[in-house]
Amino acid sequence: MNKKTHFGYKEVEESHKSKYVADVFTSVSKNYDIMNDAMSFGMHRLWKKILVELAAISEEDIILDIASGTGDISKIISREYPNTSIFMSDINYDMLDEGRNRAINESFDSNCSFCQLSGEILPFSDNTFDLITVGFGLRNFTNKEKGLNEMKRCLKKNGKLLVLEFSKPINPVFSKIYDWYSFNILPKLGSFLANDSQSYQYLAESIRMHPDQEHLKSMILDSGFSNCKFYNLLNGIVAIHLGNND
Ligand SMILES: C[S@@+](CC[C@H](N)C(=O)[O-])C[C@H]1O[C@@H](n2cnc3c(N)ncnc32)[C@H](O)[C@@H]1O
Repeated sequence: MNKKTHFGYKEVEESHKSKYVADVFTSVSKNYDIMNDAMSFGMHRLWKKILVELAAISEEDIILDIASGTGDISKIISREYPNTSIFMSDINYDMLDEGRNRAINESFDSNCSFCQLSGEILPFSDNTFDLITVGFGLRNFTNKEKGLNEMKRCLKKNGKLLVLEFSKPINPVFSKIYDWYSFNILPKLGSFLANDSQSYQYLAESIRMHPDQEHLKSMILDSGFSNCKFYNLLNGIVAIHLGNND
């Protein structure tokens, strides 16, 4: 029997999920940045800066930015650490293309390479990277465990994994307000700004289906990372997980 997984709340065949995810990101690619700012009131910029702080990068680190999309995380790293080598990578050609054009137009391409790939099958040797980042990407993977195992394999000893992802609010009242915002306002914003409510309905649903902080921490440890801690941002709406490959 074909294996099943979720695409938002819908149960779908595992082999079909990446096509559905691709359709979402192809549809949103042109309006992705403006929607990100509108949905998070610009806060995603701060969250990405915090991720880079936590990464404690050294000059000359080799870095893989998985699901790099339009390149926000790579841009911060490139500007702050111009001697690093950054591989911007995304499964979706349209998103990667937006990121590459932006890197060229905003002049942060000098230490960036661009690879179209799935974070679930990394075409790199063992022990290649000092740092792997995944910003708001893991939620969309068909098989998150497979992706995390691949990330562990490709990290050098003492390398770090940083996962920035939506998570579970801690305060129940806050959680209710957030649910109302996600299912009532987000799809309308998507419709108004990007003429696409469905993709933002998927966003709200995919966030609810994603493992919470403790669960994701266990998954990271189960992939072989020697330790993992997480940092809640905005009451846990977003969390950053830091896995060490010591
Ligand atoms: C919400 S965007 C995040 C972009 C960027 N990292 C940011 O934080 O703004 C999610 C990205 O994940 C990519 N993606 C989804 N599944 C993926 C996979 N299996 N491997 C690599 N990238 C994937 C999508 O194409 C999309 O560009």
